[in-house]
Amino acid sequence: MSELNKIAIKILSNGKGILAADESNGTMTKRLESVNIQSSPENRLLFRETLFTADSMRDCIGGVILYDETINQKSSDGKTIPAMISKTGAVPGIKVDTGAKDLANSSDEKVTEGLDGLRERLKKYYELGARFTKWRGVYSIGEKYPSKLAINSNAHALARYSALVQECEMVPIVEPEVLMDGEHSAEDCLIKTSEVIQKCFEELIIHKIDLTGIILKPNMILAGNKSKNKITNEEVASKTLECLKKSVPKEVPGIAFLSGGQSEIEATENLNLINKSNNTDFIMTYSYGRALQQSALKFWSKDIKNIEGTQNVFNHRARMNTMAAQGKWSSELENK
Ligand code: 13P
Repeated sequence: MSELNKIAIKILSNGKGILAADESNGTMTKRLESVNIQSSPENRLLFRETLFTADSMRDCIGGVILYDETINQKSSDGKTIPAMISKTGAVPGIKVDTGAKDLANSSDEKVTEGLDGLRERLKKYYELGARFTKWRGVYSIGEKYPSKLAINSNAHALARYSALVQECEMVPIVEPEVLMDGEHSAEDCLIKTSEVIQKCFEELIIHKIDLTGIILKPNMILAGNKSKNKITNEEVASKTLECLKKSVPKEVPGIAFLSGGQSEIEATENLNLINKSNNTDFIMTYSYGRALQQSALKFWSKDIKNIEGTQNVFNHRARMNTMAAQGKWSSELENK
């Protein structure tokens, strides 16, 4: 077992999942302002520290993805944020891409940037305590999209990123996100997501990535949010498994889904159904942002000093998702 594989397994095993708390300041400002909280560095830290000190960090959360601002902040008792996370048994991680920018010659599409100077930034993050990283490529489905240009450019960047991250002894999360925005069918999502993921692995292999030391973070297979033909949760699970079975090399230890705009319950229920019929060797768990934090944020915004109440809301979501990561979730448990 390589050191990288050990880190990946530590993050993903025993039903644990990842808390994606790596919203950029721009995104976090939108989230905070949507609940009428001013987006200051202090408030961003206060909300995040509230989650990082919740009980469920110990039994449910295997890794936390941070944003550059947070990894450099100190907790209220003077500890660094990575030290605070490590103390719970979870592994600190860091988002290292610098965002999705317009793709030249296909300006309705995006390519993720951040390779320049990445080696130096990675060294700094390692010293700060990070042991895994995230890079997100983003693709939309449309009549002509995602184009070969977008699929190839993002796969190439994800592979170059992964090589630098492994060189620096950290585990790269490879996140190709096919967005749910649009009128497309679930079948289109299945076809396009499979093409995107397969291209990523083609590039990862060319770039000599140790596939036992990565985590794949894909979207689930869903009909577009404006599609007239919704599918059942059981179909989401079976199409998601079909896509991953044919697209992901068996060396990969685990898959941690993004929630991508699903409601909290939907994201939990779909993960549960995926695990109930998971006939692969991949660990299948969560790496949720919105689907772990939404209700906690709403609750917190009513009284930002109510740490315990906010933690209770977060603990419930984390525990439900950890049950789902083992195929043991039920609506009775949810409503208990
Ligand atoms: P969501 O679960 O809110 O989609 O966020 C996950 C993530 O990290 C997106 O990059």
